[in-house]
This record gives sequence, structure tokens and C-alpha cells, in this order.
Amino acid sequence: MSLLTVNKLTSSVGAEVRGVEPERLVDDDHLGAAVLEALEDNGVLVFRDLQLEPRDQVAFCGRLGSVDFSSDGHHEVAGIYPITLNTAKNSAASYLRATFDWHIDGCTPTGDECPQKATVLSAVQVAERGGETEFANAYAAYDALTDDEKQRFGSLRVVHSLEASQRRVTPDPTPEELARWRARPTHEHPLVWTHRTGRKSLVLGASADYVVGMDLDDGRALLAELLERATVADNVYRHKWSVGDTVIWDNRGVLHRAAPYDPDSPREMLRTTVLGDEPIQ
Ligand SMILES: [Fe+2]
Repeated sequence: MSLLTVNKLTSSVGAEVRGVEPERLVDDDHLGAAVLEALEDNGVLVFRDLQLEPRDQVAFCGRLGSVDFSSDGHHEVAGIYPITLNTAKNSAASYLRATFDWHIDGCTPTGDECPQKATVLSAVQVAERGGETEFANAYAAYDALTDDEKQRFGSLRVVHSLEASQRRVTPDPTPEELARWRARPTHEHPLVWTHRTGRKSLVLGASADYVVGMDLDDGRALLAELLERATVADNVYRHKWSVGDTVIWDNRGVLHRAAPYDPDSPREMLRTTVLGDEPIQ
């Protein structure tokens, strides 16, 4: 019998986990594997009102893989990164506006790092209006293609760039902004990611700039169409946050975005990232 009680939240993505106390997530040797299995099956796991302490969040993530400590210095607990639009709390807040568009984290790394395996977010303070996080199943997006499309798209390659995702929120950058974005290397990924498990997903989202070898406009139109189909309401779970909620998602097989919220709102999420070990291939 599974160690976890999970109830599906939609037919496509997301499940709520019930009856787990924070201590068990940290202390139970078997729970990490059970969570990873449930994550593979459901894409997103929701723990309502878990009230997970930052240190326990990092310890729990350590059970799922290697924790990313590379952006430390923004929070007193190593491995915790605060997400807020408030520039007093986060000097990189302007970059976060790009999270309002559908994306997969880590498609444009500074080096050759793999996309993150999983991300955990806990709500410290929530916005009065907006600020929900939405998730769409990128495996289901592939599965929903016709056989002909699977055939045609199977060999396509897509160039991803930081510039592409930032331009969507800052269409008229200053020369300095543009230079900063362009300092980040672009990355070419297959449109269809064949995972080690054998499952296939579509690699789409804000960082996807153009299709290699295709007319620029035609390629962009194709990427936009596929993203639209991947994120139709039936394929999406929308999490409305309450203080104390913790949500974890499989970054490799799930697209996500935040619904806009007032930059002056107190909304603050604490993020911990589990590093990936599987390249997009
Ligand atoms: Fe993200």
C-alpha cells in the first residue's frame, strides 16, 4: 500500500496529499520515494495548510535529490529563495515578472545544467487578489498530438533564450537590459523531450524563441499554437494559495505560471529547488 493518500485535483494534472505532517516529510526514510512516485504520476502535489518550516522544507527537498544552494543570500535559511515582487525584499524582483508567462524553469541555464527536477513553494503571505499558480501537463500535451504531428514534430529543435522570455514582459528594453539578457547563452532543445522513463513531453513556454530551420514567423506560430493547446483549461490545475500551503511540481513534465498580482501586495513564497540530472533529449 502506498504511504501517501492522494486525491486527484483534475483529470490531467495535480493531486492533493492528505494526512502528512511536516515531521514525517523530514524524518520518514520512505516518504521521499513515495513523494517522487506520486509526483511522476500527478505532476503537481498540493499539501494544504502544511505549515512547513523553511529548514524542514530544505531537509524534505534533500530527500528528493540535490538541493540548489546557488542563489543563497536572500534568506537566512540556505536553500530558501523568497519569491516576491517587492524590490525591498528581492533585488531580482523585476525578473520575476516573466513568471506570469507559461514556462519550464531552467531552459536557459548559464552553463549546461539540466532543468530542475522539482520545485517546492510554500506560501508565507498571499495576495488579496491574483497570485494563483497554474500548472499544465506537458506529457498530456504530447499525448494529445495526432500521430501525424508526433511524427512531424519529433525531429524539430527549438532555440530557447532569456531574451525571448524577458521580451514578453519588457518589449522595449534599454540597451543595458538587452546586453544583460544576451550575455546569457541561448540553448537548442528538441521540441519533444524523451525522458529516461520513456515518457514524452513537449518543451514549450516563454523561453522558446524559434524553431530551427523553419521560417521565423511560421515557427513562432507553431510554438504559440502548441502552447495554447497545452494550456487549455481542461489541461490546467490552478492553485489558489492560502498561508501555510506547500506545493511541489515536477518541473520537467509540467509548465507553470503565476497569475498577476499587485506588486505592492504582501505575497511572499519560499522556494526550494531540487536540481535536475536529466538533460532535455
Ligand atoms: Fe518558474
